[in-house]
Formats: sequence, C-alpha cells, structure tokens
Amino acid sequence: MVETVKYANPQSTIRNPQSAIRNPQSVVETIKWEDGILNLIDQTRLPTEAVYLSCYTPEELAKAIKALVVRGAPAIGVAAAYGVVLGIKNSRARDYQELEPELNRVIELLASTRPTAVNLFWALNRMKQTAESHKHEDVEQIKRVLAEEAVNIHQDDKRRCQAMGEFGAGLIRDGDTILTHCNAGALATGGMGTALGVIYAAHQQGKKVKVFADETRPLLQGARLTAWELQEAGIEGTLICDNMAAQVMKEGKINLVLTGADRIVANGDTANKIGTYGVAILAKEHGIPFYVAAPLSTVDLNLKDGDQIPIEERSSEEVTGGFGKQTAPSGVKVYSPAFDVTPAKYITAIITEKGIVRPPYQESLAGLF
Ligand code: MRU
Repeated sequence: MVETVKYANPQSTIRNPQSAIRNPQSVVETIKWEDGILNLIDQTRLPTEAVYLSCYTPEELAKAIKALVVRGAPAIGVAAAYGVVLGIKNSRARDYQELEPELNRVIELLASTRPTAVNLFWALNRMKQTAESHKHEDVEQIKRVLAEEAVNIHQDDKRRCQAMGEFGAGLIRDGDTILTHCNAGALATGGMGTALGVIYAAHQQGKKVKVFADETRPLLQGARLTAWELQEAGIEGTLICDNMAAQVMKEGKINLVLTGADRIVANGDTANKIGTYGVAILAKEHGIPFYVAAPLSTVDLNLKDGDQIPIEERSSEEVTGGFGKQTAPSGVKVYSPAFDVTPAKYITAIITEKGIVRPPYQESLAGLF
C-alpha cells in the first residue's frame, strides 16, 4: 500500500475543495502558505477527494514528500523551501552561529526525502545561501528573510510556468493531439505546470488541443492527476494504459509528445517518471517530435550525463498492491525504479522559461545560464 499521511491537526483538515480548483492562475493551487502553515493538496487522495493536508513541522513535510502527498519536481522544491521556514520558526537561537546547525539539520532532513528531482536541492541551496547572506543580522530578521525567500521561490515558479507556457504554446498547432506521461501540471508545480502548462497556454490562445494521458504505472499519476487536471481545465483528455502508447502512435493519433522533467543534465539527458524513456523511443520510431518542458531550476549542469543522475527506488508494495488490491503473489521479488533517463538524442527540444533550446544541448543549455 502507498503510505498515507495523517493530518497533523484535525482542526486544520478543512479546506474547501472549491477554492482549490478552477483557480484562473493555475487550475489548482497545489501549495498554500497561510499564517505560517503549509497546506498541501493531498495528491494521494485525488481524484476522488480534493482536500488539503496541513504541515506544521519539517518532519511532517518530509513524510508528506516521501508519501507523494506533494510531488512533481518544482512543487517539491517550493514545499521544501517552506519546510525550512517551518523548521526554524520556533528556534531560540540567539545568533546565526546557533541557528546554523538547526538550519542544517532541517535542510538535511528535507534533502533526504527524494533523490532524483534536482529542484529539491536547488531550493534548499537557495534557502541556505539566503540565510548565509544575512548571517550578521539578528535571528528574527533571518527568519523573516527566509519566509520571504520561500514565498519568492513559489512566486518565481508561477512566473516560470507562465513563461514556459508562452514559449511552448508556439510549438502546438490548432487541432494537435498531444501525448503526455505522468503529471507535469499545476499539481506538480507552484504555478500552472510545465508540460500541461504549455497545453493550458495553447488552449487559452484558442487552439483546439486534445491530450492522451498515459496512466503511468505504478502510482497512476497520469490517471489520478493528469486526467483530473485536464477535466478541471476543460481540455479533452483520453486516458490510456502505458502499454497502449505504441498502438496509439501507430494509428496516427499523436502529433507530439510533451513531458516534464525531474533533472536535465549538461548534455541534455533527462530524468523523468519511469516509462518516459520508452515513450521517447516510440516517438522517434513513429517520427513524432518529443518535447520536454522544465524550468531552469530542473537543470543540473553539475552532472555531465544521465548516468550520474541518482534514481529513486520505491517500495515493492506500490507495484504488488498499490491501490488496495493485491495484484502479485506474496513474496514476489520486485524492482521499482521511480524514474528513467531519456538520452538527449531522443529529445527534439526543451522548453524553458528563457526560451526553447535544441541540440546540441551541451551548448544550448549552458547558454541559458
Ligand atoms: O514521482 P513523481 O510523481 O514526483 O514524479 C513526477 C514526474 O516525473 C514529473 O513528470 C516531473 O516531476 C515533472 S513535474 C513538472
């Protein structure tokens, strides 16, 4: 079974699903920072329930990230930034020297949750650097500055999604049908999404677009989250099982593939949800362009190729009985990598908030920084 997280404070389990959806800015508000409390739409409960989980401590947030209450590379980064604020808000440190070990402990805890999406480490670094650059100020001031920085990271992500949408929409023609994998929508970001954000932007421009969503085994982010988001946004979506993509492409139903990313390295190799690599090979075989949409916070120029990307392994229970029914014999051996790496040679272009880059990625990606 997928681990579920108990609400930290029953009084705060509120949340009005109506306020979560149809937000014109972002389809759904995945992360809300309200009165020093981090409210996350609980993605383990979608699509049947749209409720928020309140996190009061970094420990609760770490558990929520591991359980995929909040997931998707940019959303994990935004949530972690707020997690740092939660971790030091009650600190009694008298100066930065005393605060620093507390800060480091919180950052290490959050950094240990999921290894693949680089946005997590990017956001935690940004928080650490912000604290360091104010280390001569008093602790209450450092706490204020860090709270502001977390909000900045969140707002920044919204703007990045918007910009990716504007650039990426130019690649989509009126009448196109797009295949996507996993969920790279508003639920995966602090804004309107990366891959789905591009589709929302094209839709807002009046283009008639249709989407095929891979269900995305084993945790069904495509079925549970992408299909839900598309319905909320009023875009025609068709759900397929992962193993149907080849046939759907062969039938000529797909004009382009568009996915998000968890980490893009210097040569353009791209980690994304397990199954993406296979979809990219299928796209190449069928002559269909394969696009990736991701903010620069997902780009890790410190790694030279995809072999260096750490791949998270998830528990066997998610494969053998993910949604309440045992689907494999007890004791069966399971291997469950949560991500795979699509070699750059399969990627037609990468859509970022600074523009669209094409091969050779070694140069084009570096040129964005
Ligand atoms: O395990 P998840 O659900 O966090 O994996 C998410 C993905 O692989 C997304 O495609 C990726 O983070 C891009 S999100 C804009």
